[in-house]
Amino acid sequence: MNKSEILAEVRDYIDNKEPKRFIPGKSYIPATSPTIGSDDISMVVSAALDGWFTEGKQTKEFKRLLAKKLGMHYVQLTNSGSSASLLAIRAMEEQNSMPYVITTALNFPTTISMLYTSLYWHAPLFIDIDPYTLTPNLYQLGELYDEFKGKIAGVILPHTLGFPFEESKVREIIGDEVLFITDCCDALGAYTKNNGLIRHVGYYADYATLSFFPAHHITTGEGGAVLTNHPLKAEIVRSLANWGRDCYCLPGQTDTCGMRFEHPSAIDLPKGWDHKYTFTRIGYNLKMTELQAALGVSQIMASQAFFVLRKANFDYIKHGLSDLKHYLQFVMLPDWSIPSPFGFPILVNANRNFSSSELIAFLEKNKIRTRRFFGGNIIKQPAFSEQPRLIADTLKGTDWIMEGGFWIGCQQSLTIEMLDYMIDIFHKFFKEQNLK
Ligand SMILES: Cc1ncc(COP(=O)(O)O)c(C=O)c1O
Repeated sequence: MNKSEILAEVRDYIDNKEPKRFIPGKSYIPATSPTIGSDDISMVVSAALDGWFTEGKQTKEFKRLLAKKLGMHYVQLTNSGSSASLLAIRAMEEQNSMPYVITTALNFPTTISMLYTSLYWHAPLFIDIDPYTLTPNLYQLGELYDEFKGKIAGVILPHTLGFPFEESKVREIIGDEVLFITDCCDALGAYTKNNGLIRHVGYYADYATLSFFPAHHITTGEGGAVLTNHPLKAEIVRSLANWGRDCYCLPGQTDTCGMRFEHPSAIDLPKGWDHKYTFTRIGYNLKMTELQAALGVSQIMASQAFFVLRKANFDYIKHGLSDLKHYLQFVMLPDWSIPSPFGFPILVNANRNFSSSELIAFLEKNKIRTRRFFGGNIIKQPAFSEQPRLIADTLKGTDWIMEGGFWIGCQQSLTIEMLDYMIDIFHKFFKEQNLK
């Protein structure tokens, strides 16, 4: 059998698999689920048959497609979004060694873990999130930035659940003195409008991070990326992700610079030292494999349809639940925001006669999967509650989201039948509570 015959068989196998039938009330509706079809599997099998497993032509192509999608020049692929955060934070501290980093209290746990465990210890300065738009409180950002001016290494802010904040405004507040990292892990396909310019999230940052865990818009199984527009910033990240090596040859390459045995960086090393084994940073190996990248290539090629479907599902659910506005808050979309929904966020209004936990329990009982906002107010999590940090004047929005917020799926694989079922179950809850 030759390669194309094998791939045809693989396609045939995937395409003829019996799809799982949705039975309302019996089948679970997941909060997240990747879409992986015969194009994806045949890309992975094809890469495996090529017999090259570390970085190679698939990682090169995936990087090219990601750079094009985000409108950024340099991409370092990683084995997870958390590793992407680690690299961005390590690169930040190489460029600015100040002790404080401003970030949101509503955050993903590993972003904060990386601050506490990176090479130099950083104290987070936590700011609040606006519960109506899910965006960082930029007033608090400005206040803390002024108060701690000269002591801040960087600002790390997430585009929560794919609803972007105004990156260009953050840039105006912090200027170019400190590093700006945007966590775009939930927000592939989201854009902001600024003076007529439409830019993918991450564009105004020094580093943007992505995750390709299966819950995300596209997946590589596990995986992530760090993007930047600056060649020197890219070089730091590349070296950190590649054992701390100075040499930029890819796996399988040697002597790209033509100075392998006479490189000037080897000044304190034995004469003729191999530059491939010159380590200028305390580094890691956080790279992505060729098989993951092959999946990434086919996923990103299909991604435009995913973005459109997610937004359509988001709008459909919002419309279906609109008569419950008195009880539930739905995310507001400012006019500069072009979101790429990761999920459908819901916030139970304060002082209602039911709690978010009761609503969540009812949905779960009816086979609708729900998720809280990751770590919620991260400083309330056992791992972080005793850690040193500073907090802005209030974290009211974050606490409200932790108490009353959760989200359900709006991913591309959900059908209208599933969406209608979800909307019906919400209404059933309110009927049972005598609220409708
Ligand atoms: C906002 C955010 N940041 C970071 C991460 C970490 O990504 P990973 O799970 O790939 O390590 C996630 C994961 O879901 C996330 O949602």
